[in-house]
Amino acid sequence: MKDITFIAKTFAGLEEVLSSEVKQIGGKNIVIGRRAVIFEGDKRILYRANYQLRTALRILKQIHSFKFKSVDEFYNSCLDINWQEWMNEKNTFAVYSTVNNSREFRNSMFASLKVKDAVVDNFRQKTGKRPNINTEKPEISINVHISENNCTISLDSSGESLHKRGYRIAQTEAPLNEVLAAGMILLSGWNGDSDFIDPMCGSATLPIEAVLIATNTPPGIFRKKFAFENWTDFDKELFLEVAEEENPKVLQKKIYASDISARNIGIGKANARNAGVYKHINFNVSNFKDLQIKANGTTIIINPPYGERLESKELENVYAMIGERLKHQYPGNNAWILSSSKELFNKVGLKYSEKIQLFNGAIKCDFRKYELFVGKRIV
Ligand SMILES: C[S@@+](CC[C@H](N)C(=O)[O-])C[C@H]1O[C@@H](n2cnc3c(N)ncnc32)[C@H](O)[C@@H]1O
Repeated sequence: MKDITFIAKTFAGLEEVLSSEVKQIGGKNIVIGRRAVIFEGDKRILYRANYQLRTALRILKQIHSFKFKSVDEFYNSCLDINWQEWMNEKNTFAVYSTVNNSREFRNSMFASLKVKDAVVDNFRQKTGKRPNINTEKPEISINVHISENNCTISLDSSGESLHKRGYRIAQTEAPLNEVLAAGMILLSGWNGDSDFIDPMCGSATLPIEAVLIATNTPPGIFRKKFAFENWTDFDKELFLEVAEEENPKVLQKKIYASDISARNIGIGKANARNAGVYKHINFNVSNFKDLQIKANGTTIIINPPYGERLESKELENVYAMIGERLKHQYPGNNAWILSSSKELFNKVGLKYSEKIQLFNGAIKCDFRKYELFVGKRIV
């Protein structure tokens, strides 16, 4: 069978880790794009991509690519697509478009409208019935990408964003997105071969994703639904096969999660229980200042507060305390800190060995690595 082109969407800064993941699941001809990884594969690879990739937000399947000189030509190309391959007249659908530098389409709404008309007319001509629009919860999401005179039409195979794993039942004030958390862990190089500490864990996104990585548990295990299950060509047997492709690893090392707030630890525990990983995480209510863990070769990942609620002086003290603790309590380990503030990073007072730009929502952040040598090099 001919390979299909897929586009896995992700956050800026996670493209490289996502492409390694795509390689692992058997994706071919992998190309790194902007906040995306493009690859080829068959239906099994598509199901794996949705079920197993930790750093993908959604997987699009390209169904048609064409050039057009006019709006009519555009409409006719869309009308010619054999939509019945993926949907029927009873399905609800929605069209989402992005338009760059097009003379014909000044706005994306107009492009979406033309595709919608083409789908409806195609069904009317072939079946005498038409599928209905549902922009809230469409069964079929059609993705249109126009750049100058080129158009690519894709179907969104995921539906709800893949960061919505399904295990989070409660949240603290500024939880990390699950895809970002998994990406941070993979970028740090941690794979379960050493202990892991998140001393400001909030709702425990990092420790939960760490357990899933270390035990090789697919993130899709918690999901109730993927959009491709609505497609006419859905192969349930094949999907079950993919879901049963298990290769579990036993957790060998310790995962520690602590936070100054007892309430947040309660929320983190609830999420961990719901994810079935509670027994793998050592939870603790503690100020990082007082945290006593014997660490050696451990990876420490910290997502400290940025300052929505704390006074700037308090925040400065938190970052200075982090630097002091890392230096005195954790030599011989690697620490990574995610923060948006250069000034606060300065308060840490340690030299970083690596810096990766990431986005926490709309906030541009640095993810900085500190190799905590025993001796002078860390100051
Ligand atoms: C940005 S949130 C972490 C969010 C978390 N990564 C998540 O996904 O939910 C920062 C956390 O640091 C905690 N915190 C602030 N000061 C602390 C301290 N001195 N020691 C330990 N935790 C602290 C806060 O209670 C809060 O839960």
